[in-house]
Amino acid sequence: MPDRHVDMTWKHVISLLLGATFTIIYWCISSNGLQLSLLHTRILENTSLIHSTINKTRLLPSDNTQYQSQIKILSSLFPMEMVSVKGKIKGEDIPKNCSKFPSLLDLKFNNIYWQELLSSAGEILYFLTAYYDNRTLLDVKPVVRIISVFNQEDLPFVKYCHLWFNKKLVFSNVSSAITTEAFPSKMHMYIITCAIPNHLRSVIPEAVSLVEHKCDTATNLLQVNHNVPMDGIKKNFAVCVKGLDYPHTDMSLHLIQWLELLAILEVDTAYIYVYDIHPNMRSVLEFYEKHGKVKVSPLTIPGTRPNLYGLVHEFLQKLHNGKEKLVYERIPHNDCFYSNMNMYKYIGIFDFDEIILPTNGLTWINVIDKSKDVEQNQSNFLNQSPSAYLFRGAIFTDDFRKGYGWDPDIPYYMSMLQNVYRTPIRKSYTKAILNTEKILGVSNHSPKKCIGKCFIYNVPVDIAYIAHFRSSCPKDCRDIIKDTNIWTHKEILSNRVHNMLVQTGLMNDLIR
Ligand SMILES: *[C@@H]1O[C@H](CO)[C@@H](O)[C@H](O)[C@H]1NC(C)=O
Ligand SMILES: *[C@@H]1O[C@H](CO)[C@@H](O)[C@H](O)[C@H]1NC(C)=O
Ligand SMILES: *[C@@H]1O[C@H](CO)[C@@H](O)[C@H](O)[C@H]1NC(C)=O
Ligand SMILES: *[C@@H]1O[C@H](CO)[C@@H](O)[C@H](O)[C@H]1NC(C)=O
Ligand SMILES: *[C@@H]1O[C@H](CO)[C@@H](O)[C@H](O)[C@H]1NC(C)=O
Ligand SMILES: *[C@@H]1O[C@H](CO)[C@@H](O)[C@H](O)[C@H]1NC(C)=O
Repeated sequence: MPDRHVDMTWKHVISLLLGATFTIIYWCISSNGLQLSLLHTRILENTSLIHSTINKTRLLPSDNTQYQSQIKILSSLFPMEMVSVKGKIKGEDIPKNCSKFPSLLDLKFNNIYWQELLSSAGEILYFLTAYYDNRTLLDVKPVVRIISVFNQEDLPFVKYCHLWFNKKLVFSNVSSAITTEAFPSKMHMYIITCAIPNHLRSVIPEAVSLVEHKCDTATNLLQVNHNVPMDGIKKNFAVCVKGLDYPHTDMSLHLIQWLELLAILEVDTAYIYVYDIHPNMRSVLEFYEKHGKVKVSPLTIPGTRPNLYGLVHEFLQKLHNGKEKLVYERIPHNDCFYSNMNMYKYIGIFDFDEIILPTNGLTWINVIDKSKDVEQNQSNFLNQSPSAYLFRGAIFTDDFRKGYGWDPDIPYYMSMLQNVYRTPIRKSYTKAILNTEKILGVSNHSPKKCIGKCFIYNVPVDIAYIAHFRSSCPKDCRDIIKDTNIWTHKEILSNRVHNMLVQTGLMNDLIR
């Protein structure tokens, strides 16, 4: 019995010990489990949060207009129908023993919108878009222009273009590579030009590829765009804005004022390229896009440069105002020019913190007409219309205004109307309105290549000048004067901006 008792006690102790251990282990597992499942719920919550933001803004278009605009982007970059499995176009027509029509499996894409050509020496050319150019004043025409970026200074290795008329291959040589830069940089922008043979001058090729050796199978296939007005009549003005990069700063109020003022000055459309922008700016742009006043094109940087949300901003900040950054500005500017040269008579290259302000309540077309009178009296123009109209500008800043307080008659959020203190107009600060019949390459401050000689008309500052709105003055800010020229549009601009703020719901953000 005692033995048994001892036995029992031992068993009891052991079972107690085991039980305790299991309880402890079980408690550990279960509490961990509890934590894990809580964590899981939170991750799921966060994921769905992220999803709903993305669904709304980027990946999965939430409504039909956005879906349509995605399709439009694709169709301006890529000849979808030619590679689609169900495509209508069938049957290659290619000289024997030479290349083949590149399939989707042969193509090399880069950072979503770009395509590549890798040379045998390891140099890489990136292509964004291609445009048909048959403008009257060209010596050699028609041609196809390809907006390209190269990681080297010279372009010796690309010599051949494959022009695709349906899937019939027509060879052509690269006839020129226009660059707008004369500076050393890690990247260079080129407008590569392929001539279309004379017997095909009335047919527009569907697509173009660039190759190193004549019979290579291409690794790129670009849609050849030819944007023309439906009714055959060019509109007057488009403005082109380089890639916006405001992931953290909400510039929507400024954007609205700028777009409304452009509309008042009878500018037809603003073409705006976008890296990353604040959600409010995105809604503002979507609103104007729906009403046909804005067209947004998403943009990435080619090659090994960063493109993740937020990182692009850090990268562009790092480049500061370096040469490479200028290259990334010239890509959208030149793409915008070629995309719209047949749609508008004039194209202006501006940032959205600057605007051409005519004097005496004129609109932009009045400025051009008035300039024509003046220029006809200048013998050097020899009856030519200018390739470009060059404007001089001044800086208006909020810092200058602070010394004077708010103007009580104007809503404080109308920063353009409040900031009426400026520097003298500077000769060194220029922006241009380009004549679409006469320009081959642009920079953000002036035309860089014209068809023939560049005739540049300096618009007198008593007709119009650029107002550049900034928060502070970068340098040389003496001799500040009050300039209320913009008040010509005070009532109409205030009303239109107010309406927009109400319609987009942004007014609630302002009146907190
Ligand atoms: C979920 O998001 C919140 C707020 O952004 C953040 O504080 C939290 O750490 C996130 N949780 C997880 C599990 O990622
Ligand atoms: C967002 O997309 C995800 C994944 O396709 C889907 O499960 C979710 O329901 C969508 N949310 C909204 C708000 O549309
Ligand atoms: C076709 O290609 C093969 C293999 O590269 C070559 O041997 C042949 O000579 C070529 N024929 C012609 C007509 O170029
Ligand atoms: C391309 O250049 C080569 C060599 O310079 C020349 O023989 C050929 O005729 C050119 N082809 C076209 C289509 O212009
Ligand atoms: C290009 O212009 C020429 C006249 O210079 C014309 O004959 C030809 O048809 C035009 N091409 C197209 C596709 O309109
Ligand atoms: C151009 O010259 C004509 C004749 O000399 C003169 O009447 C006219 O006022 C001038 N126009 C301008 C804008 O200077």
